[in-house]
Amino acid sequence: MDEKIEQLKKKKEKIRQGGGEEKIAKQHERGKYTARERIDMLLDEGSFQEIGTFVEHRTQQLGMDEKEIPGEGVVTGRGTISGRNVYIFAQDFTAMGGSLGEMHAEKICKIMDEAAKAGSPVIGLNESGGARIQEGVASLSGYGNIFYRNSINSGVIPQLSAILGPCAGGTVYSPALTDFVFMVDGTSKMFVTGPDVIKSVTGEEVTHEELGGGMAHNRRSGVAHFLDDSEEECFDRIRRLLSYIPDNHRELPPFEENGDPLDRKEEELRSIVPDEPQKSYDVRDVIKPVVDEGEFLEVQPYFARNIVVGFARLGGHSIGIVANQPAVKAGCLDIDSADKGSRFIRFCDSFNIPVLSFTDVPGYLPGVEQEHGGVIRHGAKLLYAYSEATVPLLNVILRKAYGGAYIAMSSRHMEGDYVFAWPTAEIAVMGPRGAANIIFRREIEEADNPEEIRQEKIDEFRDNFANPYQAASLGYVDNVIQPENTRPQLIRSLEAIREKQQSLPAKKHGNFPV
Ligand code: HXC
Repeated sequence: MDEKIEQLKKKKEKIRQGGGEEKIAKQHERGKYTARERIDMLLDEGSFQEIGTFVEHRTQQLGMDEKEIPGEGVVTGRGTISGRNVYIFAQDFTAMGGSLGEMHAEKICKIMDEAAKAGSPVIGLNESGGARIQEGVASLSGYGNIFYRNSINSGVIPQLSAILGPCAGGTVYSPALTDFVFMVDGTSKMFVTGPDVIKSVTGEEVTHEELGGGMAHNRRSGVAHFLDDSEEECFDRIRRLLSYIPDNHRELPPFEENGDPLDRKEEELRSIVPDEPQKSYDVRDVIKPVVDEGEFLEVQPYFARNIVVGFARLGGHSIGIVANQPAVKAGCLDIDSADKGSRFIRFCDSFNIPVLSFTDVPGYLPGVEQEHGGVIRHGAKLLYAYSEATVPLLNVILRKAYGGAYIAMSSRHMEGDYVFAWPTAEIAVMGPRGAANIIFRREIEEADNPEEIRQEKIDEFRDNFANPYQAASLGYVDNVIQPENTRPQLIRSLEAIREKQQSLPAKKHGNFPV
């Protein structure tokens, strides 16, 4: 027995060395950790239980018969984060660039299947050159099997993807099918085809960083949701995100007692929204005083900044927040913000997280680029996502709520559960200037002093219609509340509606306007 145990230890130690000392040193030189170091950093100490340590490839062609790839280039298993069960795979870039062969894919699929059976989140730490070229269609089959599992497990268990180095080909499509993508500034890269291929096909010259670096995907493409300066910070963020979300679709998110008084009133809320409708402010200055301990985990903070989405707690219960951002494009909805908002709402709805909206929106962004880019189709996503959501939906209308954008933002008409308005709310078909110009066009044109009359009519419209009271009189707004009372009102409402049950008409699935 002793001899056999010695042999086992040696085998395991060899596999633990991955691609060997030289490759590990290179990985460290590039400011990156190895697959095993990453797993140890992310999980609770000592909790990792490896699965599939001895799996090997079985390819014979192109010199592969002589090639050893320790652990098949991926470390897989389970462990805990804050005591909660999670499944994890970490691609080992030191072992043939973490490239994905048939057996490498089988290891990942096994973890995904186990996670789905156990009802636990699955976390992928990705760093790979994509399909292992030497294995041909067997590696493509591996990717197909992963994509299939990503898709059918969507909405069943949370799936998180960290991009921790270069990721090409299939290694970017699997993360794109997961719920959240994390990147590290400087080291993470994602692209379907790299700069060399692009140069030969289109003639465009672009660096790896410009094409697929952290900012490219956090600010421009919207593929990624989080960007951090280091792997340590990235892992902290993964742990923090998990604290807001349940293990699976059958469970409620974790409750966290934090001692922030439920009836806390915030006088500062009175002075954040400017009286002048044209003046902007940062909606995060409204969110933070309302939620527990001012803690707000913003999702996609760099992309489509005209809408703010993220997680917080109210009375210890996890909530998702969707807020128009008047500080960017006056908070108008457009193609990207509709994509960002609707995907976030659908995540929250999948995992029983109530959605709280803060509305201050002048409308959909006008423009040929938006219309031809499909703002109709993209904007429809927001209508669809709020309508199909069966989690509790709360809404606070802070200021502007005009036209179609008013309807879209968790209105009563789309089955929003509680709609509150601040006294500064202006709920109307359009803003006073646009309305006055249409309704009183003739009077203004025929006047000797058209500008004076225009202003008079704008003021008249504002006084009569740009307020929350017509909507409140029709029951579309449940109450007009003082800003400082927002937190207690929301907590009481959430308490009342937290166990809401709502069924939608029986169907196979809806046809979301993608
Ligand atoms: C086999 C690969 C590989 C691959 C990298 N390696 N990618 N082996 N198949 N796809 C190997 C290298 O040969 C090298 O082996 C080691 O991994 C490290 O790679 P380097 O190139 O030395 O590292 P680096 O300079 O950091 O560049 C990393 C990289 C680059 C940017 C990822 O390797 C690269 O461009 N790889 C190819 C990417 C690609 O086109 N993949 C195919 C995608 S198609 P040695 O032995 O020297 O250490 C795909 C199909 C599915 O994925 C698509 C579904 C939609």
